[in-house]
Amino acid sequence: MRRVAIDKLESDMIVARPVFNSDGRVLLHTGTVLHENYISRLMELGIVSVYVRDELFEDVDIKDVISEETRRETIQIIKENFTGLANKHKMNVRLVQNTVANIVDELLSNHDVLIQLSDIRAFDDYTFAHSVNVCVLSIMTGITMGYNDTKLRELGIGALMHDVGKTRIDNSLLNKPGDLTAEEYQEIKRHAEYGFNILRQYDEISLLSAHIAFQHHERWDGQGYPRKLTGSDIHEYARIVAVADVFDALMADRPYRASYSLSQTLHIMKRMAGIYLDPNSVNALIANIAVYPVGSVVELSSGNIGIVVDINRQHPTRPVVKVVYDNNFHRLSQPHEVDLSKMDTVIVVRVISDQELAQLRQQIRHNCPAKEV
Ligand SMILES: [Fe+2]
Repeated sequence: MRRVAIDKLESDMIVARPVFNSDGRVLLHTGTVLHENYISRLMELGIVSVYVRDELFEDVDIKDVISEETRRETIQIIKENFTGLANKHKMNVRLVQNTVANIVDELLSNHDVLIQLSDIRAFDDYTFAHSVNVCVLSIMTGITMGYNDTKLRELGIGALMHDVGKTRIDNSLLNKPGDLTAEEYQEIKRHAEYGFNILRQYDEISLLSAHIAFQHHERWDGQGYPRKLTGSDIHEYARIVAVADVFDALMADRPYRASYSLSQTLHIMKRMAGIYLDPNSVNALIANIAVYPVGSVVELSSGNIGIVVDINRQHPTRPVVKVVYDNNFHRLSQPHEVDLSKMDTVIVVRVISDQELAQLRQQIRHNCPAKEV
């Protein structure tokens, strides 16, 4: 499968991953054949890209780090709590604690799985889906740092609720298109303090989790807000959440731009390490990212070209590759899988760029239009 920007979608393309609306309801199921009406409806809903089947390679299954059920349930819990708080209701702390405990358990038992893709989200859904991703990424980083269960849960709750202070800010200001005045920007920045004040009211929530909301916009170099804390004066939990927050924001489609690619995101993160972000936390997060995510098209030292179908954490640079083409992109008569972690002689030489793949697709369409999927 591959991810295609909405304006590049064409009728007859086949959906390869379900597209959800903000309530977690499926808008388009896997296997749906697109046509113009669907595409314009997706545009109206603010969906910027869709995973579609790829005619060059048969579909590969991309595993998520947590189950789809847990992800959707958590998005729902966040949405209900944020909406409730905005209407001056109390937070359902028990539900939040339970869902974070579930995520910690799933991540500890799925520890072989690496982060491979970001979700496709509608924009009205951004805050909720983003909160869940920040929680998952932070916990994975905590696991890499050797945190125990208690610390993972404290970190997870603060990460999930890091932007809870936004419930105290007027929606019209949060969603204001165009530039903000200096006062409006000051008000938005107050969400860090508001979040701290909300979370510390609850005895069941650790004060350290509340400090994540307070400190997640502090910067390693002391240029952040609200208190301009520097380096290790920023609590380690908040440093981790800041890294997860930036990573997920870069990997997400936004109203004004499509997501950055994984390699662009990693490049930006490395440049931010030591300036905006804590370098240790950046490294610990990056340790959880697949070097060659499932679905990447790679050239091997044997000259053959294939698609990554599986990866393992012990050998991140040695994935399982389904070899489909020779070095001239002629389809092999018998495509086969090779597990590079079990071979000393063959390595991945490079990732085939999207541009090269686009050229190749055109070439295939030109040569054999009848076979087009
Ligand atoms: Fe924030």
